[in-house]
Amino acid sequence: MEREVKTFNQLKGPKGLPFIGNILSIDLPNLHRQIEEWRKEHGDVFKLTLAGVKLIVVTKPEVIQSILKLRPTEFQRASKMNRVIREQGIHGLFNAEHDDWAKHRAIITKGLDVKHQKQFFPELKEITERLYRKWLRDTELGREIDIQQDFLRYTVDVTTSLAFGIEMNTIEEQGGVIQDHLEKIFPVIFKRINDPIAFYKVVKSKRTREFDYALKEIHKFIDEIITNGKSAIANDPKLVTEPTNVLQAILVAAETMEGFGDEEVKGNLLTLLMAGEDTTAHTLAWSIQQLTQYPEAIYSLQKEADGILGDATCFQAYEDHSKLKYAEAVANETMRLKPVAPLLLNEPFEDIEIEGYLFEKGHRIVLQTQIGATSEQYFTNANIFQPERWLAVSRCPMHNTDAFMPFGAGPRFCPGRNLALLEIKMVLSMLFKNFNVEMVTKPKEINEILAFTMMSSPYKVKLTKRV
Ligand code: HEM
Repeated sequence: MEREVKTFNQLKGPKGLPFIGNILSIDLPNLHRQIEEWRKEHGDVFKLTLAGVKLIVVTKPEVIQSILKLRPTEFQRASKMNRVIREQGIHGLFNAEHDDWAKHRAIITKGLDVKHQKQFFPELKEITERLYRKWLRDTELGREIDIQQDFLRYTVDVTTSLAFGIEMNTIEEQGGVIQDHLEKIFPVIFKRINDPIAFYKVVKSKRTREFDYALKEIHKFIDEIITNGKSAIANDPKLVTEPTNVLQAILVAAETMEGFGDEEVKGNLLTLLMAGEDTTAHTLAWSIQQLTQYPEAIYSLQKEADGILGDATCFQAYEDHSKLKYAEAVANETMRLKPVAPLLLNEPFEDIEIEGYLFEKGHRIVLQTQIGATSEQYFTNANIFQPERWLAVSRCPMHNTDAFMPFGAGPRFCPGRNLALLEIKMVLSMLFKNFNVEMVTKPKEINEILAFTMMSSPYKVKLTKRV
């Protein structure tokens, strides 16, 4: 008997208007939650049309996994997204495809491997101690703080130190920091990817001008870093065989690898800066928003940190990170409930059938990963923050990690995962070992905002020194 395959026309979906389709119903900053609502009515896989562009929305983890595993051969990232990112002068691992992608991937994964993380650990400690000192001053002055901004500065300092070998200290520096420019980039790129008409090419709004300026400053910053990196290698030939940071590794590879020139070097530095900053910082911000609602989880986190950190401000040996099991469980649980990249945009190179659905060349495929991770079908007490479910002692009957994809899946899985977890464990253990954290903003006033990454709306906390 022939198996039935559902085509685009056979899929259900919210009603649209003639010609423009569903454009007017899309609420971009809330799109991931809109998809959750539409799914209730139209099923796990449904359709949208945006001015003639056909979108298939997939929320079923099994289908999402299959699609992600079929990259880079059968599927690629959405070509419009790749194009918009490239228009900004960014050609790096995130938006590379085919053989080009394999080249970028080999170089970047090597630069982010455990060996480099270990080498970099003393700087990570120094940056974490800087954050500790800043928070200590905040407690002395009785300030309410925007901890999300502190996390953004922390992750910029970490990424630039690990990847570029430079000390930024945006945590203690006032004003004019690179982070201020970076935060203007993501929302605009996200809007351009999703706008059916490229108005920004014709009308230079205030937002476009601010974006152009921020991007110019970031390019200037990266150009300087590349010039300095090149002269460091020229002055010390040993760095060719033993690069000490990702920048040097990329520069050396660019010398020997065909098709990997200045544009690719720059593209990857920009990619690392952007991919490493927002994602990790917003995950940290979400973890505070979750933890402050669950005092028993804070207690377990503190108990673990007290035991492992002893008298130190933060953990002192790289290997200690694997002992911080509860902190890692908090990170996983935060990302299960609040994944900062809940939508992954892909498209097939050719028509392909997966799990009974036909995905055609030219369709855009929107993968929503948050729904599966917060469904009772895959996780017991799916909407409750329970870090214990990630520990060996967990008694949760349902725990299906195939539905947990905060870092994506398949060959294009996030290469920064281990670094991100290292940073998160470092910060959470330092924070809760040394301070009590009180949420000042009312929990129900903290909302999800999707702007490429899914961040929380701003909130304030107050820290007091633990005695
Ligand atoms: C909590 C923090 C992070 C989260 C949740 C996260 C999430 C993701 C996700 C969902 C993807 C897409 C994966 C896919 O398509 O299957 C991705 C890709 C990527 N991430 Fe991360 N990321 C984080 C931190 C980092 C860090 C710290 C870096 C580097 C400094 C990084 C670098 C990258 C790069 C270069 C890619 C593109 C990989 C490729 O296309 O082959 N990420 N990340």
